[in-house]
Amino acid sequence: MRDILSHRVAIVGPGALGCLLAASLGRIGVEIRVLDHDSQRAGLLRHSGLTLEQGERLEHFPIQATADPLRIGPVDLVLLCVKSPALGRALLSLRPLLTKSTLLLAWQNGIGHLPVLQEADLPCSVALAVTSLGANLVGPGRVRFGGEGATRFGFLRITQEEAKPALQETAALFRRAGFEVRVAEDIQAQVWNKLLVNVGINALTAIHGCENGALLDNPEALRLMRAAVLEAAEVALAQGIAVAPDPVARTIAVCRATAANISSMLQDVRQARQTEIEGINGAVLEEARRLGIPAPVNAKLFAAVRGMEQSYPPG
Ligand code: PAF
Repeated sequence: MRDILSHRVAIVGPGALGCLLAASLGRIGVEIRVLDHDSQRAGLLRHSGLTLEQGERLEHFPIQATADPLRIGPVDLVLLCVKSPALGRALLSLRPLLTKSTLLLAWQNGIGHLPVLQEADLPCSVALAVTSLGANLVGPGRVRFGGEGATRFGFLRITQEEAKPALQETAALFRRAGFEVRVAEDIQAQVWNKLLVNVGINALTAIHGCENGALLDNPEALRLMRAAVLEAAEVALAQGIAVAPDPVARTIAVCRATAANISSMLQDVRQARQTEIEGINGAVLEEARRLGIPAPVNAKLFAAVRGMEQSYPPG
């Protein structure tokens, strides 16, 4: 068997998480190819590399980056790190990276990406990565580690038996890079349990313009967090999802572990980008409506973030 470090690995989307993964894997000797839809930024990354800020420590890594998927060609592993609103476009452009033996690992928040991945007619096996890691993009190719968090991998679809050992090897690779990773049989439950955390953190940090930890010092935000998470947990339970005990306490624990992090949704709002609200509070709202469960707090958070998106300056 080939040493996993020699596997061809591509990261699609050099946002906060993509840069964190590229730097962490680069540190243990994995050669990463980055695919970016933005050719100007890809040029900048090729030229200046990646910088990882962790506490006082600054590390620098050279990186291969391109906007042309044909320059990368087929790889063993794709880490798909674009946000869910950009997923459709990314799935079209990354086709040259895929063969039937490629493993594609998708790292989106929420649940909006699941039907998109299922309906994309990809030639390869697809797994989901569910993570509570914090990562903060400070500038192009410059990422600040935003806090520890568990990561779980699990299959959405398997096209080849070889994908099973490949996913285990990928988990081992990430552990070697310092992440807390396990392959989970119940990935659907993991996705929902992480969704409950994002339901309680992301919109509120965007609305209050604060770091994750600051929500815990704001009694009104804390009240809405509890209510939103409990509404979402009720929706999950009604669908037979194995909700892990005390989702509110888990959300608070993630806020503490990533206290200084700017959530991905607040990063999006600050950059006037479309957020993942549709796949987070929006998805809960849609399921709640379908099941006839009231979800007024999720409706309120959804409307507030939608309103922020609609008031972005034109262009
Ligand atoms: O979306 C995010 O920012 C992250 O999922 C998390 C765990 C909330 C940390 O900020």
